[in-house]
Amino acid sequence: MSLPVTAKVPFGGDYNPEQWPEDVWKQDHRLFDSARIDLVTLGVFDWALTQPAEDVYDFSLLDRIVERAAAEGRGICLATGTGAHPAWLATAYPEVTRTDFEGRKRRFGQRHNSCPSSPVYRRLSVELARRVARRYADTPAVVAWHVGNEYGGACYCDLCAAGFRGWLRNRYGTLDDLNAAWYTTFWSHTFTDWEQIEPPSALTEHWRGPDHTAFQGITLDYLRFSSDAMLANFHDEKAAIRESSPTLPVTTNFMGMYRPIDYHRWAAHLDFASWDNYPPDDESAARMALTHDLMRGLKDGQPFWLMEQSPGVTACRDVNPLKRPGVMRLWSWQAVAHGADAVLFFQLRACRGASEKYHGAVIGHSGRSDTRVFREVAELGAELVRLGSASLGARTPARVALLFDWDSWWALEISDGPSRLVRYQQVVLAYHRALWDAGVDLDVVAVTADLSGYDVVVAPALHMLKGDLAQRLEDVAARGGSVLTTYLSGRVDENDQAFLMDVPGPLGQLTGVRVDEWDARGPEVVNPVRLGHGAEAVDVEARLLFELVIPQGAQVVGTYQADFYAGTPAVTRNSFGDGDGWYVATDLDQTGVSWVVRQVIARHDVLGPYPDVADLESAVRVAPDGSRLLFLLNHRADAVEVPARRGGVDLLTGDRIWTGSTVRLPAYGVVVLKEDW
Ligand code: GLA
Ligand code: ZN
Repeated sequence: MSLPVTAKVPFGGDYNPEQWPEDVWKQDHRLFDSARIDLVTLGVFDWALTQPAEDVYDFSLLDRIVERAAAEGRGICLATGTGAHPAWLATAYPEVTRTDFEGRKRRFGQRHNSCPSSPVYRRLSVELARRVARRYADTPAVVAWHVGNEYGGACYCDLCAAGFRGWLRNRYGTLDDLNAAWYTTFWSHTFTDWEQIEPPSALTEHWRGPDHTAFQGITLDYLRFSSDAMLANFHDEKAAIRESSPTLPVTTNFMGMYRPIDYHRWAAHLDFASWDNYPPDDESAARMALTHDLMRGLKDGQPFWLMEQSPGVTACRDVNPLKRPGVMRLWSWQAVAHGADAVLFFQLRACRGASEKYHGAVIGHSGRSDTRVFREVAELGAELVRLGSASLGARTPARVALLFDWDSWWALEISDGPSRLVRYQQVVLAYHRALWDAGVDLDVVAVTADLSGYDVVVAPALHMLKGDLAQRLEDVAARGGSVLTTYLSGRVDENDQAFLMDVPGPLGQLTGVRVDEWDARGPEVVNPVRLGHGAEAVDVEARLLFELVIPQGAQVVGTYQADFYAGTPAVTRNSFGDGDGWYVATDLDQTGVSWVVRQVIARHDVLGPYPDVADLESAVRVAPDGSRLLFLLNHRADAVEVPARRGGVDLLTGDRIWTGSTVRLPAYGVVVLKEDW
């Protein structure tokens, strides 16, 4: 099972006509026609509607919505509706609401609010999914199932505690093994009965943050358990769908780089990945590219769906800026450039009330089509029609891999020491930014991914080293590839216990260094680092964490310039087999990170066509028929001109572009060049 079968990139999004009178539906569909909207996501929050009481199911309104959408020729991504539970359920079974980290029992009144371990919630959500699937499985317009919505958060109730103990028994088998894994001899934490184990909580003396305590073994495993508990919810709903719908693809909408859920552990259970793109600001082009690549990496490079994005503004933030003219289009094409095989919005028509009444929508409260947003949506719709099937199923021909690892993220950020100021995502973003600026096509993959096809593997803050990963990274270098890793890598094993060897543990051979000690400082402390030698040398700044490196065969590429370790290595390169193992021992500024990354990739032919044109993004996809699509995305507010490296046809305009001719991209402009064979 993989992606839904569609003739072109589906275009549309969340549509909630149950919120307004039926005479408006007709208008909606006329407007959808004019915007070339061909897919609607229905029923995401319909539980209270479709099951108004425990023993009453009522699909009459959803039937009409589905029938109307189908009659209008729209494809349907149909939700199970379990993203929020109804009031009657919370009243009849208080166990279904969550308990927070502070130990407070939540009351009814939110969404994404169900305890994943509650037997009642599990039984009734699965039953609803079963009935939705049974009812609509034979509706040909339905092309995909959408389970739940944005799984996330965590619950710390007694049912979850019991679930956690079961999960631990399954993982460790015996209390002896659990005690060993959690290193419980420390602080007299030894457990002699499973019942003594409780979830981490702010009610313990040593709580450290909104989801963790100084009891690191429990904290780490509870993060793993929570992710798995919600995965079980997804899995159970999917199984219920499968009883009547054996083949239609099933997904749930992810949230990109979202810490509480290990999407790599979920990925195999989804038929296709999908995600909701709500960047924090309009400076997020590189971050969005990274996130798209992460989502594409979930299913081994299989395209994903952009399940949601706002056509204009969001509503949930303190301040909700408007996407500038052209930006929604640009970001939509960016998603396609990185592997999206659907472009969908939240939402197609604005809610009239409640907390999202000011959230952007394709159709606003007045129902007009002569708005800027509607016009831009309609233009994009027409472009996607013109694109047709050209990009469907196309893959990214990446030879560079960036490793992303939720366990490392968790272990690093729940750790006491060396520094709470080092944030996993920031480290990953910096290394990704350097690759993005260089126009490198890359895959963002799990540490378990097959690395044998990559020339370069970048592993920032690879804190936890599991399984045979060190060996597989050595293999990359041995056959001539380059591996780059950084400070705080190779520190702990899968139980978050230090390796009884020099840092960076099993990465020591590959990197040819040992880290003797480390110094953490506040952000105001800068240690200058000199990169390179002689006339070519570049001075950059390093902050937060300074590892003191003693080369064990590695060449010194950069050195600290200040403090008692002035003159010692900050960046090294080790020859390993036919390739290299690079080590960056400190938090270099972006100039420094980019300098190092350019050195690392210099031996490999992976630069994009315009590595020195700032904010001109390029990305390649290769379609199943072998044709190469080069996406050029101008993230600047002014025009840019570049020479065409290869000729082809711009699929958005039909214009022919000759090799060497000038390609002009206006502000926020996009070119989709189908290159000549
Ligand atoms: C999320 C949800 C939607 C909606 C949007 C608003 O992605 O899935 O239901 O709330 O945010 O941005
Ligand atoms: Zn719970």
